[in-house]
Amino acid sequence: MDITELILSDHHEQRRMFAMLDDVDPSDTGTLSSLWTRLAAMLEVHAQAEELFFYPELLKFDDEEDETKDAIGDHNDIRDGILEAGKHEVGSDGWWDGVNKAREANDEHMGEEEHEGLADFRRRADLETRHRIAVTFAAYEAANVTGVPIVDKDPDEYVDENS
Ligand SMILES: [Fe+2]
Ligand SMILES: [Fe+2]
Repeated sequence: MDITELILSDHHEQRRMFAMLDDVDPSDTGTLSSLWTRLAAMLEVHAQAEELFFYPELLKFDDEEDETKDAIGDHNDIRDGILEAGKHEVGSDGWWDGVNKAREANDEHMGEEEHEGLADFRRRADLETRHRIAVTFAAYEAANVTGVPIVDKDPDEYVDENS
C-alpha cells in the first residue's frame, strides 16, 4: 500500500459521490439524504485521517509548514460547508448552498493537495513510510466509517503541535 495512492483514491471517490448528487431527482430527498450522509462522513474522516497520519509525516521534512497550514485551512472550509448543510432541511436551497460550498472547497483543496503535499511526499518519503502510514490510515477510516465529530483546527496551532 502507498498513502499517496490511498489519498488519491479517496479523492476520486469523493468526486464520484458529489457527481452522483447531480443525478438525483431534486425532489427525492430520501436519496439525497442517504448519499449526503455517506459523503459527509467520508469527507470528515478523510480530512481527520490526513491530519492524524499524513500531515505530521509531511512536516518532518523542511519547508512544508506553509503547505500544511493551507491544507488545514482548506479542511476547515470543507467542514464549514458540511456544517452549513446540516443546519437546513435536505433538498432546500440552504442545504444545497452548504453542499456546494463543501464541493467547491473540496475540489480546490484536492487539486492543491495532489500537486503539492502528495507530490512532495512521493519525492521525499521512502516506500516503507508510505506503506506504514497507508495501513494506519486505512484502519482509521474503516473504524470510523460512520464519521467523526467535525472540529475546525487552527492552522498555526496545528503546525506548532505537529512539527
Ligand atoms: Fe485529501
Ligand atoms: Fe486534505
